[in-house]
Parts: sequence; C-alpha cells; structure tokens
Amino acid sequence: MAAGKPWSEGNVFLSGIQPSGQAHLGNYFGAIRQHLVSQDEAGEHFYFIADLHALTTSRDPEALRENVVDVAVTYLALGLDPERAVLFRQSDVPEVTEIQWLLACVTGMGLLERAHSYKDKLAHGVKPSVGLFTYPILMAADILAYDASVVPVGKDQKQHVEMAQDMAQSFNARYGASVEGGEVFRRPEGRLPAAELFAKVPGVDGEKMSKTYGNTIWIFEEGKKLKKAVGRILTDSREPAEPKDPAGVLLLDFLALFLDEPELADWRERVRAGGPDAPGYGHLKVRLVEAMDAAFGPARERRLELLADRGELEAVLRRGAEVARERASCTLDRAYRAAGIR
Ligand code: ADP
Ligand code: TRP
Repeated sequence: MAAGKPWSEGNVFLSGIQPSGQAHLGNYFGAIRQHLVSQDEAGEHFYFIADLHALTTSRDPEALRENVVDVAVTYLALGLDPERAVLFRQSDVPEVTEIQWLLACVTGMGLLERAHSYKDKLAHGVKPSVGLFTYPILMAADILAYDASVVPVGKDQKQHVEMAQDMAQSFNARYGASVEGGEVFRRPEGRLPAAELFAKVPGVDGEKMSKTYGNTIWIFEEGKKLKKAVGRILTDSREPAEPKDPAGVLLLDFLALFLDEPELADWRERVRAGGPDAPGYGHLKVRLVEAMDAAFGPARERRLELLADRGELEAVLRRGAEVARERASCTLDRAYRAAGIR
C-alpha cells in the first residue's frame, strides 16, 4: 500500500478503446502502440473495450458485437499479453456505472459543457443525447475505478483525462476527510504519444486520418487492396528528378511512421537532391507497402488464428473481467462508504 492510501504504490496503466470498426494507421500509432509499449513497464495494466461508450453513437447491435470482437482480436494479434495486461469489456464491470453516478453528483454542468469533443460534435450538427453529454463522467469512472495512475491516450482524449482529475479532486474534497489518507480516488495522469507525427497521423489526403473522412489505411489490409490504399496517398505531377522539399512530400510522412532514422534520412535526402538517382513517388509507395507488410504481416496471421477460436477469445475476456471487477468493486465500496452509503 502507498503510505496512508487505499491503493498500492506502483503504477496502474489503464486505457479504453472504442469498438468502432477496424483499426487504421492513426488508431495504431496514436493509441494502440502506446498501449502495447506500456505493458513492458513495471506496474499493473488494464485495457478495456469501451462498449458502453460506443452506445453514444452505435445503432446496430450486430455490428457492435462484431466490433468488440475485432478490437479484442486486434490487440491480441498485435501482441497484447493477457498474462501481463488485463483485457476486458467495459460492460462486464457494472460497478463502473455506479461510480459514474457518484461522480455525476460532484460534477458541475459547466465542466461538461466545456468538453471540446462534445462541442465539436454539436458544431457538426449531432443532436446530443444525455449519454453523449455525460460521456466524460463514464470515462472518469473507468479511470478512477481501477486506481489508474497513467492513462495512455490519443491527443483528442487529453481533456477527458483532465476532467477525470477534476472529478476525482471534487469527490476527494467533498468526502476525503472521512477516509484514512484523505483521498477516495487516485489522481490519474494522461500520457500522450511521444512524437507529434504519432499524435496526428495524416490520411491519404493529407488531412488527419479518420474513419469519418474516408481517408484511412487499415493496418490489416494486404496484397492488392493494400497497394490500392497506398496508391491513394496524395502526390503531384512533379518528375522524380525535380528537387523537392521533403516536408511537402506526404509519402515521406507515412514512411516516417515505419522506417528507422538513417533510412528515412536517406530517402529524404534523395528526394531533396533530385537528379537521376531521386526516387519517384512509385518507389516510395513500394517501400511503404514493404514496410507495412513487415510491420503487420505476423499480426495479420495471428489475427486469423484468433478469429477461428472464439472460445479462447471469450475466455480471455472473461478472465479479464473477473480481475477488473474485483478492483472496481473495492473502489466502489470505498466511495459509497465515504459518501455515507453502506
Ligand atoms: P476515428 O477518427 O477514425 O473515428 P477514433 O476516434 O475511433 O478514430 O480513434 C480512436 C483512437 O485512435 C483515439 O484515441 C485517437 O486519439 C486515435 N487516433 C485516431 N485517429 C488518429 C490519427 N489520425 N492520428 C493519431 N491518433 C489517432
Ligand atoms: N473515449 C476514449 C476514446 O474514444 C475511450 C475511452 C473510454 C477511454 N474510457 C476510457 C480511454 C478511459 C482512456 C481511459 O478513445
């Protein structure tokens, strides 16, 4: 136990993933990769599929079920190790929705009204449900339920983690005095992708890659379809021999996601210099397909194996839910008691 606190000293890593269809390069470099890398750090690791959050946008029950499976398979195929990280479905831990209520009662409307993601959706003409409005409270409950200390997220989720800090603080300020150590909920810290390129992966049109913009490349695409997807990356009609500013060549941004520094520097230099040895856009595309095959090839195969054994997949998620529930019910009990219930 940390001195006087109800949680243990070490780090607890936690993140949620929305089950919203196949993963694209933006999802991978902006989120998934951070999750996989962090499982090597000392501490506990919780990763869950945010199916309750998905209900704020999903309308198709069958698609939701499939997407949940898809996320689980994607993570396991890419190397999430269920022996080291607890992988589970958000909805398998109902305690989280009870914690959500406790947090809702200490959260001002103003805090939620300031949420960028909510305001963006309104600006895009979405008619908000109460669920969409209170989305950040459910997310805070996800985080606080497991005493998370580090929350690896994409840039777009940073504010939501800050809101979880605010909610923990409001709850602790109101009820902390009644518990030993003065805190009911542990303060979480967000962790963003280290490099700016990973925080905002471009799509084939150069805008931010997003399902909404139809400019994605799926990480598990292969063969002809992958070539076609890479073929859509925006280029122009300049000849290979013409010297170019590498910063203006979108394909180099894609290659930067995969290549080591010396190789990348070499491609950049040859593009900049122009002349007879300069690569054409076609060369860069071929190298990108190769690099994607090398990066994701083994995971594509594991994915197919996992999809063929749904029983094993279910077992992993069930075991994960058991561990997660135990932690969340401890936290819930502590919070109820602090608030004068139980
Ligand atoms: P989409 O925009 O395709 O709907 P999501 O909102 O489902 O993607 O994103 C899930 C996670 O992937 C988020 O944590 C987000 O930060 C990350 N992500 C999505 N697109 C990108 C991108 N282009 N660059 C970096 N990270 C991204
Ligand atoms: N809102 C996050 C997203 O869209 C998913 C999520 C739900 C999450 N609960 C969370 C992320 C808790 C981190 C911690 O990507």
